[in-house]
Amino acid sequence: MTDVFGRSAEAWAGAHGLPLHLTWLPRVRENLRAFSGVFRELYPDGAVRYAVKASCHPALLAAVREEGAGADVASPFEARAALEAGMDPRALDLNGNCKEDALIREAVARDMLVVADSVEELALLQAAATTEGRTARVLLRLSGFELGPVTGEDIFTAGPWSKFGIPLGEIPGVLAALDTWPALRVLGFHTHIGSQITSPEPYLAVLGRMIDLGADLRARAGACRILNLGGGFPVNYLDAAGWEAYRRRLAARDGFCWNDGTGGLQPGPDGRLDPGAWRGEAYHSPWPKEAMLRAVLQGEVRAWGRTLGARQALAALGGPRLLVEPGRSIVEDAGATLCRVAHVRRTAGGHAFVTAEMGVLGHGDALLEGLPNRWSVAGGAADPEPFEAFIAGNLCFSGDLLSRTLVAFHRRPVRGDLLVARDTGAYTSHFIASNANAYPRMPRILLHGDGRETVMAERDRYEGLFPQPQGKR
Ligand SMILES: Cc1ncc(COP(=O)(O)O)c(C=O)c1O
Repeated sequence: MTDVFGRSAEAWAGAHGLPLHLTWLPRVRENLRAFSGVFRELYPDGAVRYAVKASCHPALLAAVREEGAGADVASPFEARAALEAGMDPRALDLNGNCKEDALIREAVARDMLVVADSVEELALLQAAATTEGRTARVLLRLSGFELGPVTGEDIFTAGPWSKFGIPLGEIPGVLAALDTWPALRVLGFHTHIGSQITSPEPYLAVLGRMIDLGADLRARAGACRILNLGGGFPVNYLDAAGWEAYRRRLAARDGFCWNDGTGGLQPGPDGRLDPGAWRGEAYHSPWPKEAMLRAVLQGEVRAWGRTLGARQALAALGGPRLLVEPGRSIVEDAGATLCRVAHVRRTAGGHAFVTAEMGVLGHGDALLEGLPNRWSVAGGAADPEPFEAFIAGNLCFSGDLLSRTLVAFHRRPVRGDLLVARDTGAYTSHFIASNANAYPRMPRILLHGDGRETVMAERDRYEGLFPQPQGKR
């Protein structure tokens, strides 16, 4: 039996049908506790604002609240779900580069912490706060950091090509003009570097810069009360040895990657692929999840004109509240996706692939980022040699795969077998999922750990995709 969160894969399939997405809430709680534990130990005035976009439902957010965390919300429905979960609006950060007027007004009226994405937004906030007769609590989101290749280009959100944030060069002007927005209380700064940041250096670079800007803010406004380091805390899709082996396989160009691709491997000076030179999102970090927060708090920053301990530098600023917005690292390893095998075939070029009964876009970001989610086939005795195959699902193009690198199954799957993908809790079946090929998106079930279940999303129905004319059944 292949155990998935305490039951066999077949039992889950029987209970909910396939394909199916499960989230194991006890793991979500564990991950949140690990982050708050690091804060308790190293920086008591720190707090977690779970990035709701990673996986959203009021029942999940109620557990986040019970664990003492707030939330980073970035849309009207995310904000509503967090409020419905009973979260204190003051524990919500409102992020986003296109906040609607009504959302800005609601945030100001309820005293959420608004992360201002642009100078233009400061004017909108000023108008909303004046209308509401309130003072808005605001952080300034920063962009334009030169940090080098810290993760996948498209998920690096703090650089010169970011669509988010106020360019660093404009901050002195903003601080000099704070009187222009008398209804705003600028409490500090925010930077979200991007997702899957696998080394502490970028965090420390950004933190040092925010501390120095905090000193400028303090000189202008009396205090810098909050710094928000965003999310991006990494998840280990592969252990250290697996990550090394993964890059070696890519470098060997032995058909490990679909279409003889090279993933993020870069050629060395001699033109050969170098397993040590990876560019883009990495699938392993020596500092996964809360270990990254620990490394940052125990690391050194460049601030106050010298290099010093991060906590010492924060203390010199008056010990501002430190917020983090982890998403992926809270829910990714709490998720699993189950689907049925349709076929096991070979391409014209002789490459083995398993086709699953699942819309490829149902798998969310794995398709876009090529994540090596941990796939397995449920049950059965092992073959003498693992069976290596790519995994395809339902979508039009040849490159639209559920796994673009070979998966080593313990046996050759056959039609009707169950496949299980682990580490699929974040940005998954309802993040980028679409109804391509009129394929229904799968249900998402939240498992509370005590036998209770919450349906976070139902399986799409035909009538939902194609609303029926009145009177027609
Ligand atoms: C502003 C902000 N904060 C936090 C996060 C969460 O990032 P991660 O899931 O990598 O922790 C995101 C993700 O896009 C974000 O945009």
